[in-house]
Amino acid sequence: MKCSVVIPAGGLGKRFGGNIPKQYLEFAGKPILMQTINLFESMEEIDSIIVSVHTEWYTRTNEMIKQYGFKKVKELVIGGVERQDSVNNALHTQSVEESDVVLVHDAVRPLVTPKLIRKVIEVAEEFGAAIPYIRPKDTIKEITAREIVVKTIDRSKLVMVQTPQGFWPDILKNAYEKAKAANYIGTDSAQLLEFIGYKVAVVPGEDENIKITTPLDIRFANMIMEERLK
Ligand code: C5P
Repeated sequence: MKCSVVIPAGGLGKRFGGNIPKQYLEFAGKPILMQTINLFESMEEIDSIIVSVHTEWYTRTNEMIKQYGFKKVKELVIGGVERQDSVNNALHTQSVEESDVVLVHDAVRPLVTPKLIRKVIEVAEEFGAAIPYIRPKDTIKEITAREIVVKTIDRSKLVMVQTPQGFWPDILKNAYEKAKAANYIGTDSAQLLEFIGYKVAVVPGEDENIKITTPLDIRFANMIMEERLK
């Protein structure tokens, strides 16, 4: 069984302030993206890694990959305007072509454990599509643009989804092609499979598998890492 992982890292999100996209901020001694690559590089189950980056960061990322000596990064591709374009560009590569399962994992989720990655691979291999979820803790309401409550949504039916998301490559490529043709934009890969009517299985995710988005997230991430290193 061959497994590849696509890591979209093409965002320029500057919600942290400063000029460095969040995936290049330092975390536990390495840029976040390098921590994430390192995680997959060290797993036996992973054969190849494809990273999509913004044009402005292509050369620097290439140098970092060499500096850390990663052997499984087979392709570095240029990302697109949306995350969806960045993933799509990475799907048209030989590494994905040769895989039985392809994972898609956010560059900014360096705390996912090998245990969850293995679970996603296992379920994706069997069902064609598998994604991790956690349950929301807070009550969730729909509100108007003027900040008035419309209604409370039944929380028992809702989940928050994470990455890695795992797929059979043919199904994933097909979903991306059809979404592109229809100008349909999803916020995760699984949404595009829903769009073509394919059933997606869910597996329990991890509270610690946070998506580093704000400065508070990086503080949490550092706390989690410190505890793990104790
Ligand atoms: O911006 P957001 O937090 O949703 O980004 C999730 C992941 O998608 C990040 O790793 C980011 O670098 C990546 N991304 C991308 N191409 C874009 C936008 C985001 O690869 N155009």
